[in-house]
Amino acid sequence: MEYTVFLLLLSISFGCSCSISTSFLEDEQLSQCGQYCFSAVQTCLSQLENTLKRVELCEAAGPSDILGRIAQLEEIGRNTQAELLQLKQQMSPTPPGNTLSTEIGEKIKRNFQKLGSKLFYIESTDRKTWHGALQRCYDLGGHLASFQSQEDIDAIDGKLKEYSGYWIDVTDQYKEGAFVSVSTGLNATFFKWGPDEPNNAGDGEHCVELHTFEGAPVMNDILCSHRKFFICESSLI
Ligand SMILES: *[C@@H]1O[C@H](CO)[C@@H](O)[C@H](O)[C@H]1NC(C)=O
Repeated sequence: MEYTVFLLLLSISFGCSCSISTSFLEDEQLSQCGQYCFSAVQTCLSQLENTLKRVELCEAAGPSDILGRIAQLEEIGRNTQAELLQLKQQMSPTPPGNTLSTEIGEKIKRNFQKLGSKLFYIESTDRKTWHGALQRCYDLGGHLASFQSQEDIDAIDGKLKEYSGYWIDVTDQYKEGAFVSVSTGLNATFFKWGPDEPNNAGDGEHCVELHTFEGAPVMNDILCSHRKFFICESSLI
């Protein structure tokens, strides 16, 4: 008669693990082993008993206490996370300022095109007042175009619609006849007036447009409230 006794007692929590695997071929051998098996099982049982006692103690501590502990750990976790984030920001090689300029840089790349030596955005669909155009150019990441030379005008000439007016950054709305470039905040230095301009017609023409009525684009002073196309420029790349 052959039979196998396999006994495995395993305690998960406290690392008590004992097993007895004994194979008996004869009844005599079973009786010989009896004493050994008994003591081994006895050891295991007493260890299991200890384990159960500890588990009972643990349960007696109560679930509310455990939940409290978990809440504490979560709190610590959250605080650590916040501190790490703060440290990361402090140590970051790109401070927030740079992140912002990167965003503006992306916007400029999207909106502006290189024409001649400058970056321009030419609006030939949406007409705005001079002040509306001023705002729109800022929103796009630039400012109303500030023409400094004939080369600047030549660079955009082919992109303008015929018989149209485009706002630029020159105005004398602060002092009649004192044309300033609002982009630089200084007196405008380059002018390409059309015939008999600027004439301040009706005593109210304080904003300057580049218009294409005469073929080649020339400057003209006109009412700031007129709705016109506009040209923006960006100095950033
Ligand atoms: C700007 O122009 C005005 C008049 O056109 C003049 O009075 C003033 O001195 C100029 N300012 C500068 C800084 O050149």
